[in-house]
Amino acid sequence: MNTIMRNRPWRWLSGAVVGGLFLGLIGPALRSEEPQDKPEADAKKGPVKSSYDQVTPTLLGQQTFEEMRAKDKAGKAAIAARQKKLLEERYDLSVRVSDRVKMSRGKPVPVGPTVRLPEGATWDSLARLSPEEVRDKGLFPGGFLPLPHPHHEVGGMVFPQTEIKLLPRLERFDLDFDLPDHVLAEFPPAIFLTTRPDLGDVSQGKVITTENFQEILAGILNSKDLEGMRLLVMQFPQQQFNATADRKTEKPDGMRGVGCFDCHVNGHTSGATHLVGDIRPQSHRRRIDTPSLRGVNIQRLFGSQRALKSVEDFTEFEQRAAYFDGDQVTASAKGINPLERGSQVHFMAEVQNLLAFPPAPGLGLDGKLNPRKFDADSSEMRGQNLFFGKAQCASCHPAPYYTDNSMQDLHVERFYKPLKANGLVATTQGPIKTFSLRGIKDSPPYFHDGRLLTLEDTVEFFNLILELKLTKAEKADLVAFMQQL
Ligand code: HEC
Ligand code: HEC
Repeated sequence: MNTIMRNRPWRWLSGAVVGGLFLGLIGPALRSEEPQDKPEADAKKGPVKSSYDQVTPTLLGQQTFEEMRAKDKAGKAAIAARQKKLLEERYDLSVRVSDRVKMSRGKPVPVGPTVRLPEGATWDSLARLSPEEVRDKGLFPGGFLPLPHPHHEVGGMVFPQTEIKLLPRLERFDLDFDLPDHVLAEFPPAIFLTTRPDLGDVSQGKVITTENFQEILAGILNSKDLEGMRLLVMQFPQQQFNATADRKTEKPDGMRGVGCFDCHVNGHTSGATHLVGDIRPQSHRRRIDTPSLRGVNIQRLFGSQRALKSVEDFTEFEQRAAYFDGDQVTASAKGINPLERGSQVHFMAEVQNLLAFPPAPGLGLDGKLNPRKFDADSSEMRGQNLFFGKAQCASCHPAPYYTDNSMQDLHVERFYKPLKANGLVATTQGPIKTFSLRGIKDSPPYFHDGRLLTLEDTVEFFNLILELKLTKAEKADLVAFMQQL
């Protein structure tokens, strides 16, 4: 008998030897849900280690769906208040949007910086300090720290309210999305095809679904790509959206779950969030903000931390691993739907590879500003000069696609001590994919976890991280340049 079983007599209820063996596996997981206040405990040892933390008492039939739902609902308001408090401490969430710069279908881009400065500091005073000074004095702005999931201890896919209004099946009873609508991509977003640039946006202003994909795309895609599209809009069971008593939706739905394009709406992003599947314990998993699939055709690495090498691999991985939090034990119970590589994965990947970046009429053949369209002393041109010069951006984001197709470690942890915030432990983060900056104004919030809400915030972030000491005017120029990409 191991220690865990001695400490948890109720486990003996399951009796059977086989059951005991199984519980020996999942027991530590249940313990890891207990509160852990000290980051060190999480970071180093934790009370008990386990990789099986998704097997819940509800899935094992030790608690009914109704009991779980009642507990979840009772705790929902407190969790939402906790997240709201953290967001308000870190960001100015009042609606500030541009009256000039719009996303591809006309939603105004959010304007920042929204990140709040520590008491008494200015952007310039912070930029004068070394990383160590910022860290030791606790001056790193909270909005530059890793962002926790709306309920980090639980995690899972969470969809923005605007999307749930159209697709009510995406509502969870236990928690709501946290970021305000003005810092999200437009909904629905435009669709541009590499094969039919002559058509411009082919979305007709609609969200592509199982009901309308034929009507909208027939005659534009070939039949193979239409089949790929059908699989991208079709729902498959997922960790929180399935038929078991362990689900987080009111109704059991054995027929459905979540579709690829529920998150990657129209091949772009709805802003839906999730926790990365690959890391344990739960507290160390990172929040991940759905990236756009526009321009995957020119990219070589997929996933912010996973670095899978093809769109095919990522498509298979989403369905087999990410949908179930990287947990193959519960995946079987909830209805994993492995896709066939040759006739399904391949079709889905092919159609993703047709999703183009939005047109950038200001750029020339080399992917840089067209000098016929911008004066040498325009804010955009000055921004471009900084981007390729003093601000060092192009060393990781080279033209024409503004990505080095690699991963880079920004060593953000130089600026803060390990900490725990709303269930997330932030220590050293490691290398992250250098996301492309083409079409970047269309896809706030920024970074793998969505911690930076506006382009102005990204510039302030890199000004500190790269120790650039840019002036206010130079920062504005960099933003003006990125808005042209
Ligand atoms: C939560 C909603 C969600 C659903 C549903 C979803 N994805 Fe994703 N997708 C994400 C997130 C978040 C990432 C980033 C993963 C990371 O950072 O490791 C991602 C990454 C990707 C990438 C790599 C993009 C890049 O820039 O590196 C591809 C390709 C992709 N998804 C395809 C799919 C396919 C195909 C499906 C359906 C089988 C799917 N996704 C379903 C949220 C989702
Ligand atoms: C050392 C390499 C490096 C340099 C230099 C660099 N970046 Fe990045 N950039 C990255 C990485 C890596 C990410 C992804 C970070 C993450 O998601 O946590 C990123 C992300 C971004 C994003 C958000 C992309 C998205 O889709 O969310 C923007 C905007 C950006 N960088 C702008 C800049 C600007 C402006 C500069 C120059 C001031 C710059 N970068 C310099 C590596 C770099």
